[in-house]
Formats: sequence, C-alpha cells, structure tokens
Amino acid sequence: MNRRTWMKSLPAMAMLAGQRTKAAPEPLVLPAPQTEGGRPLMQALRDRKTTREIAPDPLPAQVLSNLLWAGFGVNRREGPMGRPGRTAPSAMNLQEIEIYVALPQGVFRYEAVPHRLVPVLPEDIRPKVGRRPAAAQAPVSLIYVTDWSKFAKVQQPDLRNSFTSADVGFIAQNVYLYCASEGLASWFHTPDREALSKLLGLGEQQQALYVHSVGYPAKK
Ligand SMILES: Cc1cc2nc3c(=O)[nH]c(=O)nc-3n(C[C@H](O)[C@H](O)[C@H](O)COP(=O)(O)O)c2cc1C
Repeated sequence: MNRRTWMKSLPAMAMLAGQRTKAAPEPLVLPAPQTEGGRPLMQALRDRKTTREIAPDPLPAQVLSNLLWAGFGVNRREGPMGRPGRTAPSAMNLQEIEIYVALPQGVFRYEAVPHRLVPVLPEDIRPKVGRRPAAAQAPVSLIYVTDWSKFAKVQQPDLRNSFTSADVGFIAQNVYLYCASEGLASWFHTPDREALSKLLGLGEQQQALYVHSVGYPAKK
C-alpha cells in the first residue's frame, strides 16, 4: 500500500484502541485530554521508574491522548514569545521538539494544536526504533525529534545541544510521571539516531534523539 492509499484508508480513532472500523478522514483527531484526576503527584514521583518489559496490548485512544497531552500538550493559549504555553518548558519557548508516534498502524506526528495525529508513514517501524528487541513489542513508541533550525539565533553548538537535551528531558519526565500515575510501563531509550532519522524521512535540520516506549506492564 502506498502512502496515499494508506492515508485514505486510516480507520477512525478506534484504530488506536486496536479495533477495526471503516475509513475515516485524516489527520486523526484525538479525544480531548482528561486534565483532571489521576494519582497525586507525590505518589507518581514515588512510583516513577523505567520498565522495559511492556505488554503488546494497545492503549485506548483516551490514554494515548492523555499521554501526549501530559508529555507536551498545550496547557494555556498564550505563553511566552507569542506562542502557546505547553506542559513542558523549552528554551526561549522555541518548542523545537516534535513527538512522532510509532503505532502498529504506522507513524504519526503529534500536533499539540489542535491536539491531533498527522500521518507520516504507513509502516510499523516499532521493531526498528530501539537497540533492543523489547521495544518492538510496546504498543506505542514516542520518538522525540528535534528541529535544529529553530535555534537559528543560538550560535554555539554546545548551547544548542544542552537546550534541546534539557527540553527533551522535561517532556520525557512528564511522560514518565503520567505513566507512573496510570500504572503504565515506560522506557526512555537511545536509538541509532542516524538510522531512525532516515527511517522517518526527516529533513536535514531534524534529528531523532530519543525513544520512549509505553504500554501496559508485561505480566511476570
Ligand atoms: C539520557 C538517557 C538515555 C538513556 N538511554 C537508554 C538506553 O539506550 N537503553 C535503555 O535501556 N535505557 C536507557 N535509559 C534509561 C536509564 O537506563 C534509566 O533511566 C536508569 O537506569 C535509571 O532507571 P530508572 O529510570 O528506573 O530510575 C536512558 C536514560 C536517559 C536519561
């Protein structure tokens, strides 16, 4: 199936919950995030950890929506520098990190406004996102991609590197805490950056930095 056919045939949001339905328009609109509830912050901090054993069961669309919003959603319309405010800070509010979402059905890019998933690739790349086979099994792997072009005004390469590393870290910790709050397994790991960037068809100024695999904990 080519990319065009795939995009036309994308099933509705139920697809994200592992169900099959008739074709739906793309991009995929996520359900509104649930921004209340969950376990208290101190309990989530107490339980935050890396869990590499992840069951293949799909995440419900609502959980995926909440996960992405927690990671790097918009939490206020007006933030610094004339851009919306996000759940994670970024240097100069440049918001240079994009979250790509690898699902069994293909790869999508998270658009925080208006909170939706834009199709990128019609392939299941999960077996190729990590250096260890365990990542292949997780139903969702978030790929943190930076856009170096957003740092046009930052001349020193080490400053660019430290800015973008810090920015990824804030997002990843949001994801870790959301997962701890929901009892989900969460594993932040380092891909072969060059290979993954190529696989995603990223532009010259973009780079895949880290992968964050998420799902239900595998039963022991
Ligand atoms: C920058 C960074 C890179 C990491 N890369 C990997 C990795 O490539 N593979 C892996 O299994 N874990 C990776 N991890 C996860 C760490 O091994 C893990 O967070 C650490 O052992 C502490 O465990 P905890 O998260 O359960 O506290 C990485 C973590 C960070 C912060």
